[in-house]
Amino acid sequence: TPATQWMNDPNGLVFFEGEYHLFYQFHPDGTTWGPMHWGHAVSTDLVNWEHLPIALFPDQHGYIFSGSAVVDWNDTTGFFSGIPGLVAIFTHAGTYPDSDRPRQRQSLAYSTDKGRTWTMYEGNPVLSDEHIVDFRDPKVFWHENSTRWVMSIAAGDRIRFYTSENLKEWSFASEFGAKEGSHDGVWECPDLIELPIKGESNRTKWVLIVSIGDHADMLEGSRTQYFIGDFDGTIFTNNSSPDTILWLDHGRDNYAGVTWSDSNALGKEKLFIGWMSNWKYANITPTDGWRSAMTIPRVLTLREEPEGLCLIQTPIPAMRTLRNQLHRLEHVAIQSTHNLLVDLQAELYEIELEIERGSATEFGLKIRTSEREETIIGYDAVNNALFIDRSNSGDTSFHNQFACKHSAPLMLNNEKIKLHIFVDQSSVEVFANDGKLVLTDQIFPDPSSTGLE
Ligand code: FRU
Repeated sequence: TPATQWMNDPNGLVFFEGEYHLFYQFHPDGTTWGPMHWGHAVSTDLVNWEHLPIALFPDQHGYIFSGSAVVDWNDTTGFFSGIPGLVAIFTHAGTYPDSDRPRQRQSLAYSTDKGRTWTMYEGNPVLSDEHIVDFRDPKVFWHENSTRWVMSIAAGDRIRFYTSENLKEWSFASEFGAKEGSHDGVWECPDLIELPIKGESNRTKWVLIVSIGDHADMLEGSRTQYFIGDFDGTIFTNNSSPDTILWLDHGRDNYAGVTWSDSNALGKEKLFIGWMSNWKYANITPTDGWRSAMTIPRVLTLREEPEGLCLIQTPIPAMRTLRNQLHRLEHVAIQSTHNLLVDLQAELYEIELEIERGSATEFGLKIRTSEREETIIGYDAVNNALFIDRSNSGDTSFHNQFACKHSAPLMLNNEKIKLHIFVDQSSVEVFANDGKLVLTDQIFPDPSSTGLE
């Protein structure tokens, strides 16, 4: 969470000289969306974070919308007198001269002191297109094979790719997305990454992550899809049929997520973090003095599953450092008449759970319970679906679509499901069957609702 005030998308995720940087869309003067700055936090382990002063402020070109950051190892920009430094590539959101017509253009800022202070590039903006209204959220990486920078950027409900030698001059490479995947809302915050396939030492595939904005007709609100395919340095080709839709998270609160640049600490896997909210109600959630949080950082990889390649998401291993008191239950029979967890009271916890179906048609866990409240994490064995039901999770009054039950298809594995769950003051994150399916949801229980069932 921000120390105070409003936060949305993660921005400028980059690992440099032992630090993970997390910049984010920040409104320092209010707890609702407003003139965007880049807030800043750093961490050496992605678990413990230190808040730093605001990194980027609005200027004559407009607000500072979402974008990325890279290490310019070879000083391709010439900003760093031959040594490596950090470059942020982001959207300047302003208006056309003497008009209130929105204008979104891409700009650079650079830092020679490990991200503590930033200088706006005098040649800003570096990329614009008068024909595209929604043209934002550049995510840049160094493409080894073609030895140049590649940018993916949202353009209406398409993703465009541009290439550059120096981050300052960009050439259009290709466009992806017409008739592909979901077009339920405007496309935002793309990220094109190369991921390894678990158990196959040499094969990789490219994954294009695309967030989709809220649309009044869509109950789900804003959410994130992904495509698996190939990238040759110019063109991204989707390996699935155009009408296949793959959701990155089946909960309601994981949006605008992207991955860290230059963090190969874990090999080729990528580290991901998302904004744990939904544009449908993000501005009116019941928090006081601050608003919204990021998800737990996650490791992304691919795995071959019966239905094809799947994006796999697991909590970063370092989360284990937060473990303290352990409660263990083994080889116990679950009956609807007896609550095995009756003696537990807890607000913040991590659960690793394996349940065998037996004769149940539905089974699972209730968290943050009291006489009046409960959040259900359940498996529907008739329809083979994992669900979260937050209908009675606590305060749901702020938006009429917040109280809901939502599910996603999941097959049992040898009659079992495996869940890895993180419960925080106002969130629940469920990783099922070793990261194959994820549900991330906000909940606002009363502090006294600390039961489990
Ligand atoms: C996504 C988004 C981005 C934009 C930013 C503005 O949540 O709409 O497309 O850059 O938020 O804060």
